[in-house]
Amino acid sequence: MKVTRNPLHRIAAIAVAGAAAGLLLSAGPASAQQPKIKIGLMLPYTGTFAALGTSITNAFKLAIDENGGKLGGREIEYFTVDDESDPAKAPDNANKLIKRDQVDVLVGTVHSGVALAMAKLARDNNTLLVIPNAGADDITGPLCAANVFRTSFSNSQMGIAMGKVMAEQKKKTAVTLTWKYAAGDESVGGFKETFEAGGGKVIKELSLPFPQVEFQSYLTEIAALKPDVVYVFFAGGGAVKFVKDYAAAGLNKTIPLVGAGFLTDGTLEAQGDAAQGLLTTLHYGDGLTNPKNNAFRAAYAKAFKTDPDVYAVQGYDAAQLLIIGMNAVKGDTTKRAEIVKAMESAKIDSPRGSLALSKGHNPIHDIYLRKVEGKENKVIGVAVKDLTDPPRGCKL
Ligand code: BEZ
Repeated sequence: MKVTRNPLHRIAAIAVAGAAAGLLLSAGPASAQQPKIKIGLMLPYTGTFAALGTSITNAFKLAIDENGGKLGGREIEYFTVDDESDPAKAPDNANKLIKRDQVDVLVGTVHSGVALAMAKLARDNNTLLVIPNAGADDITGPLCAANVFRTSFSNSQMGIAMGKVMAEQKKKTAVTLTWKYAAGDESVGGFKETFEAGGGKVIKELSLPFPQVEFQSYLTEIAALKPDVVYVFFAGGGAVKFVKDYAAAGLNKTIPLVGAGFLTDGTLEAQGDAAQGLLTTLHYGDGLTNPKNNAFRAAYAKAFKTDPDVYAVQGYDAAQLLIIGMNAVKGDTTKRAEIVKAMESAKIDSPRGSLALSKGHNPIHDIYLRKVEGKENKVIGVAVKDLTDPPRGCKL
């Protein structure tokens, strides 16, 4: 039998189909039909900062999982590149994510030199970038941009805090030692600024190329100079070796060693006795008992069978910041101005304590004074409350 269609039926069918399509459209960008949001993770998974990259990745994904595996209601697809903490490879690596994979958001990285290259590419391509560690001061200073955010710190912040504490402790002379690149230079610069403003004098600034760990000649020089205190910036595998070498040379008995908290964060297991008693300054530490930190530490330990460190906190907060931005637009990544506005005004409930962003999109947070006791970086005070960056020429 031939089926003839009544034109009225056709019109009705078109109307039904149209209504269904309308329903799908009105379900909006958050509907299951939307493509996944592409997140590019550019972090070190090899080299002296490998453990830092892993902590950030773990905690970033943990926060997303706690949010139902979604951003603004949309599923996530991850693209990952090992940047090896190598600035020379940074443009190629970032372009793999930006141009080849066409990510919606770039997340990275640890090393300031690599992050400076990423920030330039993010600006050139108008890609949203969230930095979960690298502290290069300029990124949220003169090079600040509407599409670039940081959930970690700026390098000078830890030095500023420790310089103040050492001046208050009436130390008169200091020697500084660091890897020679933006992170170390700026950390030491912050220390010198407040230590000398408080009456101290930095008598020698020592440095070696990143990521070298042949410290012996520097330890010999420090022993000869006999300063009241030594301030250093090292992190990851290099920090483990430096703290052990300092103790092996017997200097921990005669000249107090202090540093930006990266010196002893995530490293205490490997540093053992050599780290006992060290004072450091950082925006996180052991013994913070705010409810968010308690929940975060329990969830992280359950998921990864290890305790979180500061890098994990920063990765977690990078995801928390993106959740706020994407929720504001229900996952519609084309609404960039609204995303930026929501992220700029975000009040993040961070495991470190409450967190707001400066005009240049850098954290304003308390910097804690910590002391190594056993396997803990115990918080023993607040070195500087609500530390923000000087404007440093950011025009936003
Ligand atoms: C940096 O390069 O900015 C950095 C690396 C490790 C720890 C802290 C800062």
